[in-house]
Amino acid sequence: MSRKPIIAGNWKMNLLKSQAKELFEGIKDYVKDYSAKELPTIVVAPVFTSLDVVETVACNCGCGGNKISIAAQNCHWENSGAYTGEVSVEMLKDAGCSYVIIGHSERRQYFSETDEMINKKAKAILAGGLIPIICCGETLEQREAGVTDSHIASQIKAALSGLSNDEIAKSVIAYEPIWAIGTGKTCDADEANRVIAMIRKTVESVSSSQAADSIRILYGGSVKPGTIAEQMSKSDIDGALVGGASLKADSFNEIIANTMKVACNV
Ligand code: PGA
Repeated sequence: MSRKPIIAGNWKMNLLKSQAKELFEGIKDYVKDYSAKELPTIVVAPVFTSLDVVETVACNCGCGGNKISIAAQNCHWENSGAYTGEVSVEMLKDAGCSYVIIGHSERRQYFSETDEMINKKAKAILAGGLIPIICCGETLEQREAGVTDSHIASQIKAALSGLSNDEIAKSVIAYEPIWAIGTGKTCDADEANRVIAMIRKTVESVSSSQAADSIRILYGGSVKPGTIAEQMSKSDIDGALVGGASLKADSFNEIIANTMKVACNV
C-alpha cells in the first residue's frame, strides 16, 4: 500500500494575521506549479485568530491555495455551550479547517490534557468529518528508562479507543519524541522508523491490518530541510509535523521539495 506523504506545519503560538497571510502566500506560490499528484498532502496549522485570513487566501481559484489544507491546533469535543475559551469542531469546519492537531506534548504538559480528553477530541473530530492529527511521544526520562514503546503504545491505544476501523484508517498520527521538539536534536531516522513501525503494529492490534496499512504516521521533532529526505526514505515514516522550520516559506517549501524527491506521486 502506498500512503500519500503529509507535510504539516505547526505554527504554534506564532505569527500575526499579516505574517500568517504572507507565509501562506509564500507556500501557495511554490506549490502552484505542481499537480496534487506530485505534491505531498500539505497542511498548515495557524492560530485560531488567523484561520480566517488564511482561508481567504487559500481560495479555490486554481492559484495553488487549494493545494494547502488548513488545520487547527486544538479543539473541544462538545459542539457548543458554556466552555469559555474553547472552540468546537463545527466552528473549525466553518473556519475552513479539514484537520485538527490533538494531543501535542505542549498541550499535554502545559494544559494538562489527558489521554481521555484526546480520545474525546478524536471522536468529535471524526464525527464532524475532519481528520485528527494525534500526537504522541516520550520524554527523555522515559527513553532513558527504556519505557518508550510501552508509553507510546498506551497513548495510542487510549487515543483510538472506540473508533471504527474506517475512522482509524483515515486518521493521522504524529510521533514526536519530546526531547527532539524545538531542540535541534532530531531523532535518528532508523530509530524514528522503528518506533513508527511499532505504532503501526499497535494500531493493527486495536483495529485491522488494513487500517494499520492506511493510517499515515508522521515524524516530528526538529525536522529541517536537511533531515527530511532521509526520514522520508524510511519504510514507515509517512511525512512530518514541522514546527520551527514551518515558520519560513523558504524552509517549509524546501521540506516539501525534498519530500517530492524521495516520495509522493500517489
Ligand atoms: P519543531 O516542532 O519542528 O520545532 O521541533 C515540532 C512540533 O512540535 O510539532
